[in-house]
Amino acid sequence: MPLSMTLTLNGAARDVVLDDPRVTLLDLLRERLDLTGTKKGCDRGQCGACTVLVNGRRVNSCLTLAATLDGAEVTTIEGLGTAAALHPVQAAFIEHDGFQCGYCTPGQIMSAAGLISEGLDAEDPERIREGMSGNICRCGAYHGITLAVQEAARRMAADGQ
Ligand code: FES
Ligand code: FES
Repeated sequence: MPLSMTLTLNGAARDVVLDDPRVTLLDLLRERLDLTGTKKGCDRGQCGACTVLVNGRRVNSCLTLAATLDGAEVTTIEGLGTAAALHPVQAAFIEHDGFQCGYCTPGQIMSAAGLISEGLDAEDPERIREGMSGNICRCGAYHGITLAVQEAARRMAADGQ
């Protein structure tokens, strides 16, 4: 039986009808709402490529049933910044070469944004690495990723974000 729900998706209300209550948030975003910035890596909670924010907190969208999100606020990489006004994490990833092929990058950026909003100490690289450990990068761009997260955390703290 179809299930109707409403999400706030990247700041806008979206009515969604789920014809299958087992659909994950990842498949809802990519296959039904054309938001393909969120990537599917492992589809089993091991790589972090599918990371989005739900009510401000980081989640693996491949492990999240869409049907549990009625009334929730979901932010994907498409809603974090714009080409004209990048989010500080996006800008820092570019400045510090925080990616190579880019496949893991949307998940890395969403995870970093969530981690910073949790109150990350920008001067603790070990904590950054630990906090980002759920996001795997097969290209091994970890050095640039850590520098980017550190830079973004510093800037956002300075801006009071
Ligand atoms: Fe979700 Fe890998 S695709 S954790
Ligand atoms: Fe290629 Fe991370 S940049 S997997």
